[in-house]
Amino acid sequence: MKTVYIKTYGCQMNERDSEAVASMLRDRGYTIASSELGADVILLNTCSVRDLAEQKALGKMGMLAKLKKRNPDLVLGYMGCMAQSRGEELLDNPAVDLVVGTQRFHRVPDYLDQLLASEDLEQPFRVVDIAEDPGSESTIRDHVLGTNGDRQVVAFVSIMQGCDMYCTFCIVPHTRGKERSRPIAEIVEEVERLVAHGVREVTFLGQIVTSYGRKDIPKKNGRSAFVQLLETVHEVSGLERIRFTAPHPKGLGDDLVAAYRELPKLCEHAHLPVQSGSDRILRAMKRGYSRAWFLRIVEKLRAARPGIAVSTDIIVGFPGETEEDFEQTASLMREVKFDQAYIFKYSTRRDTPAAAMPNQLSDEVKEKRNQAALQILNDHLARENQRLVGQTVEVLVEGRSDKKPQRMFGRTRTNKGVVFDGNQRHKGQLLQLRIERATLTTLYGDPTIHNL
Ligand code: 5AD
Repeated sequence: MKTVYIKTYGCQMNERDSEAVASMLRDRGYTIASSELGADVILLNTCSVRDLAEQKALGKMGMLAKLKKRNPDLVLGYMGCMAQSRGEELLDNPAVDLVVGTQRFHRVPDYLDQLLASEDLEQPFRVVDIAEDPGSESTIRDHVLGTNGDRQVVAFVSIMQGCDMYCTFCIVPHTRGKERSRPIAEIVEEVERLVAHGVREVTFLGQIVTSYGRKDIPKKNGRSAFVQLLETVHEVSGLERIRFTAPHPKGLGDDLVAAYRELPKLCEHAHLPVQSGSDRILRAMKRGYSRAWFLRIVEKLRAARPGIAVSTDIIVGFPGETEEDFEQTASLMREVKFDQAYIFKYSTRRDTPAAAMPNQLSDEVKEKRNQAALQILNDHLARENQRLVGQTVEVLVEGRSDKKPQRMFGRTRTNKGVVFDGNQRHKGQLLQLRIERATLTTLYGDPTIHNL
């Protein structure tokens, strides 16, 4: 039986795509390996959102090419966003056999069958498939079911693919294509199946989930397609928690704010990528909202759901960003007090308008602003996480902790990770845990409280 190792870079959508490809390969009789050692096939599921992510995957493939010198039968491939945006050019590395883009993941098992069957041919057989594929948003799903026999508590559900926003810094519309949404009934059916297999929390995934269904599903009683989807899935009994990522702040209409008030399964967490606190930069990014609008949304969410956690993405060093612009971002961070922020140094992406803008900044300036923003975040998190010590929070136990396998790991409704000395039978349970200690990234739960 041939073994395949899949290494995943980037976002949750990529993780989910890798899981789905792994599941399809298992169905086809392949074994999924947990390390590259001894694997017959190694696939890199790539990310293009920043240059660093691309360099990591290219570097990795460089190492694997050396491995292939010693083992010429090894099959090597790229999947995902960089495969989509670079395509054929990735075959410049003669060790690469397969390049499969973001709309053709479901073809991977066929291609591997063919590649492995063609081992003896004199002429090397290679595949590049980065075609558009109508309906590809629905082609891979149900990957959690029957995979490795280990019951999964939380699951990602892809509800839409692509993005039509064309923010000037962003490569995603080029790698994930136009917005395409799955029908509500199909998503509900998937969630029902997941719940029947023990899943208690779902996270809806999409590059811009607030645009879900806007082309195909008309508004109903002032509710967008996305809110209609939330309301429908909320009815699935046995499902305890619903999350989604990532919305666009522009898509946070009053109907979605109301959903936070009315749907108790919708967790009190919103990941709202702000990108910048400067109106001038927001305009140059073509984000379609102002600083004041963003602050207003946060205010509305906090009024609708007291205690809601708000996280964000921030880009520092966008072309032309002045000290004053950056100070606007810093002051927005201090004002909102984000519960988490992913801070990125602006990275020039091919085919994006910002790449051609004047006043590109030096890495030194970007690094300085990155550190300054991180400092603001960490100062706040240190205070905020200490505030939680002594409080009792609801934790959905997902399984063993990755870092310390003798401990269990779960998440609060506000999406904070909690580690505690539990045991495997707690997996899938909602526990009330008292927080006894906190670091910047992790809360530690009191091991005794759940036995009371
Ligand atoms: N440079 C730096 N960060 C970027 N992101 C997207 N494109 C770029 C870029 N060119 C960040 C944004 C987005 C997150 C997923 O990645 O903050 O929200």
